[in-house]
Amino acid sequence: MNANPESLSSNDCELQLRADGSLRHLLTLKGLDKALIIELLDDAESYLSPDGTLPVRSDALAGRTIGNLFFEPSTRTRASFDLAGRRLGADVLNLDVNTSSRKKGESILDTIYTLEAMAVDIMVVRDAGAGVPAYIARNVKEFVSVLNAGEADVSHPTQGLLDLLTIRQHRPDFENLVVAIVGDIQHSRVARSAAHGLQTLGVGELRLVSPPAMAPVDAELSFARTVSTLDDGLRDADVVMALRIQRERIDDLDGIPSVGEYFADFGISEDRMRHAKPDAIVMHPGPMNRGIEIDGSLADGWRSVITQQVTNGVAVRMAVLAHVARAMQK
Ligand code: CP
Repeated sequence: MNANPESLSSNDCELQLRADGSLRHLLTLKGLDKALIIELLDDAESYLSPDGTLPVRSDALAGRTIGNLFFEPSTRTRASFDLAGRRLGADVLNLDVNTSSRKKGESILDTIYTLEAMAVDIMVVRDAGAGVPAYIARNVKEFVSVLNAGEADVSHPTQGLLDLLTIRQHRPDFENLVVAIVGDIQHSRVARSAAHGLQTLGVGELRLVSPPAMAPVDAELSFARTVSTLDDGLRDADVVMALRIQRERIDDLDGIPSVGEYFADFGISEDRMRHAKPDAIVMHPGPMNRGIEIDGSLADGWRSVITQQVTNGVAVRMAVLAHVARAMQK
């Protein structure tokens, strides 16, 4: 058994695959096969229903139990995993940081073993520690699956999938796309998962646009172009994704702009969008800070696909849950 989660990477693609190439766990989009990503996006489409109609339901997870283990705050990811599981017929239990016995010093593995003893089949994990989802995946019983619901600044694979699905619905020709991700790239798991997925789907150009103090420092994003001014970053972009400043992960505030400076230099507004393609779409993973990384009227305006991202989040999580459950051992 590994004792130190920090020593493990959840960007280990092999760990998440079964011998037949299907997913046992979902830990990262890095290195995930293009055909598998497309299969998950196609499956997610089948779980979408027209506005104003009842949601799609199935019994794909009947008899299964999902544990949502959120040791960091969440609205969208937690609620959508909860709904996704219920709409597929599973029992769903939700643990959060304020009410779980981890507050009393229980280790993450003792928490996992406790849930395994209650026949939880799928552990959905959000944690501030890098490597925690992979650590759990290495230590659960062979018939348990682990889904990464947000890991430090490392990975947020279901967010990446829902972002890919949303982009594909508007701009299916990835090879001719210019995508600009704007904001706190350095501390963003959303940016990393989106970047890995976009790279696999063959995006034409990915720009990572940020002030120097928030620029990526890891080599794994070196395929993307880093840009330090917003107007250059947005120029002729088809897709613009704004990111929240991840203050909870910033230790050193040196060089971090004030809120006013940030909005003036990197806040996205309809006026700044004049540099992008005329029909460019605007995305945001949420939660949004209006007036900091994005102007409220742009977020609510005709370019915005932000609520569509949320809708797609439920469908993507249904697709992932159904995929891992299909090959479960028991
Ligand atoms: N995008 C995202 O992960 O949102 P939550 O933190 O609300 O889950």
